[in-house]
Amino acid sequence: MEMNKCMQLLALLLCFVSLASGIDRSQFPPDFLFGTSTSYYQIEGGYLEGNKSLSNWDVFTHIPGKIKDGTNGDVADDHLHHYKVDLELMHFLGVNSYRFSISWSRVLPRGRFGDVNPQGILFYNNLIDALLLKGIQPFVTLSHYDIPQELEDRYGAWLNSQIQEDFAYFAEVCFKAFGEKVKYWSTFNEPNVMVRKGYQDGMYPPSRCSEPYGHCSDGNSDIETYIAAHNVILSHASAVEIYRRKYQGKQGGLIGIVMSTTWYVPYADTPNERAAAARATAFDIAWFLDPIIYGTYPPEMSQILGSKLPNFSPRDKQKLKANLDFIGINHYTSMYAKDCLFSACNLGPFEGNGSVLSIGYRNGLPIGPMTAMPDFYFTPFGMENIVLYVMERYNNLPMFITENGFASSGSSSTEELLNDHDRVKFLSSYLYSLSNAINKGADVRGYFIWSLLDNFEWLYGYSKRFGIFHVDYITQKRTPKQSAMWYKDFLGGHKITS
Ligand code: NOJ
Repeated sequence: MEMNKCMQLLALLLCFVSLASGIDRSQFPPDFLFGTSTSYYQIEGGYLEGNKSLSNWDVFTHIPGKIKDGTNGDVADDHLHHYKVDLELMHFLGVNSYRFSISWSRVLPRGRFGDVNPQGILFYNNLIDALLLKGIQPFVTLSHYDIPQELEDRYGAWLNSQIQEDFAYFAEVCFKAFGEKVKYWSTFNEPNVMVRKGYQDGMYPPSRCSEPYGHCSDGNSDIETYIAAHNVILSHASAVEIYRRKYQGKQGGLIGIVMSTTWYVPYADTPNERAAAARATAFDIAWFLDPIIYGTYPPEMSQILGSKLPNFSPRDKQKLKANLDFIGINHYTSMYAKDCLFSACNLGPFEGNGSVLSIGYRNGLPIGPMTAMPDFYFTPFGMENIVLYVMERYNNLPMFITENGFASSGSSSTEELLNDHDRVKFLSSYLYSLSNAINKGADVRGYFIWSLLDNFEWLYGYSKRFGIFHVDYITQKRTPKQSAMWYKDFLGGHKITS
């Protein structure tokens, strides 16, 4: 009885918060996808179970010193054994879609050098079937920063064009095994982050650095970053070409790519700083989207990089025509962009983000309230702006907000973590900003909260919690936070059945 009263009060409070932020479900189209998002390495666990092989992240996180709290994803949320429980959580929320990624090393432990792993196929088939039974559309990513380690060891993965065939092969295995049931495919999650962190600053696997950005110094040229990106772009194109030619007609799904996006605000209202902000965005997302959509690297990049950017051969150009059906937008924060092309930034000769310094502060003040993630600020205006930018640059191709979310610090008390009104404020404000973009004509078709569960946050391990469900990593108990109750309320979700 007491508990019921408490829940009623909470519901009232949340309703109030929603009203205060002026956002409700009816402001989005009826067939809009609303979901939550996860990725294999961050939640699954079972790292060597059922014939799965080592992925690059399995190997990387086991190297001492790589992850801030010394943890890894060996167990994580043990989603491999809790997927049914997790599905109930989604049903409780009332979402109509779930974004997750397939572990390449679970499905094809040795890439093309070995066989398809039936146990891997079975796991994802079970998950997909269970989702569909609850009326939840699977929204599937093929590679969320991960690759079987063997491909890295044998031939240097993204630095070798051989990867294009390997990725296309993996994609086809997935189209064949799951494509009758999956209507939304993304080839890659945030390839812009994957290659910058993997080949430029060396913070992600394969820990390669280029001078002068790197935290390690193996003396590589930053040309590696552009080669890795080039191979990702062509791997995407190869997979899409196969999907279009052999599967899409029969299976009727859509295929896209997901980019990490930051909204850049000029550091000062001057032509040079405005140009810097535009360059930063081009170097961030147009780097991948221009070639995939228009067949060439963005002019903002070629002007600065010249011959450092690889060329597309006639055959590549042919492949790139396969293009994509939607753009996935992961959006969390805005930053100031400071020009380093015409003004000195004291950073040495570099063109990283287009000779732009990306900073969160101006005159000692942050661009927005800080969150527990360094460089992630509460800047809801960025959502509307980035969506309108993508709409204009890419002729309003369909978009999905594939990630948006808020981190709490893992060192807070459980009570504080559960009463996450700051997350509710964050999500409702960003949704409101998104609805503004939609009202201005942007063809956005879905929104996914990062994340369903607290999980392994890459370099920060378990010290950051993004979930709308709290996870006790010792007992694996999931508990709804206020934000889960708010999302359920917003979506008109279901009562807990057990
Ligand atoms: C984007 C990545 O796709 C996801 O894996 C990560 O956890 C979130 N950003 C939060 O940093």
